[in-house]
Amino acid sequence: MLNRKIEEALNDQFNFEMYSANIYMSMAAYFDSINLTGLAGWMKIQYQEEMFHTMKFYDFINDRGGRVVMTALDAPPTDWATPLAAFENALAHERIVTGRINNMVTLAMEEKDHATVNFLQWFVAEQVEEESSVDAVIQKLKLMADAPGGLFMLDRELGQRVFTPPSAGE
Ligand SMILES: [Fe+2]
Ligand SMILES: [Fe+2]
Repeated sequence: MLNRKIEEALNDQFNFEMYSANIYMSMAAYFDSINLTGLAGWMKIQYQEEMFHTMKFYDFINDRGGRVVMTALDAPPTDWATPLAAFENALAHERIVTGRINNMVTLAMEEKDHATVNFLQWFVAEQVEEESSVDAVIQKLKLMADAPGGLFMLDRELGQRVFTPPSAGE
């Protein structure tokens, strides 16, 4: 059974993961609008990952006897000055998510909710991955700043990304 504080925090993050998904879909739409279809594809995979995160919270809340409650979500940003600006926005957003996950772990520890602490460990590890994959693209975009052909190459490279849902140890 979940205590009320934990249930609220889990629900809040369930909704925030869906908001994260919307941000990435909005970034996909931006990249498609400027014909960078590979970068758009990368963002669509990121959208799927965020929906996967969303459903992990959904299932966990239910498994623990809680009630999932959807809320209104803020509209995501829709325009960025450059591809780099979009990815920098993504990194800033992932850092916010990391902070939220860490705060939830602290709360779950204070409330002695070991099942939630355990559940959140998956997200602690996932956030390391999330920040690092976005940062890797930022570094490439910075490297190619003076080489216009580079963006074309990167667009092709990132367009190869496929969604692979983690199976074991969810
Ligand atoms: Fe997420
Ligand atoms: Fe994320």
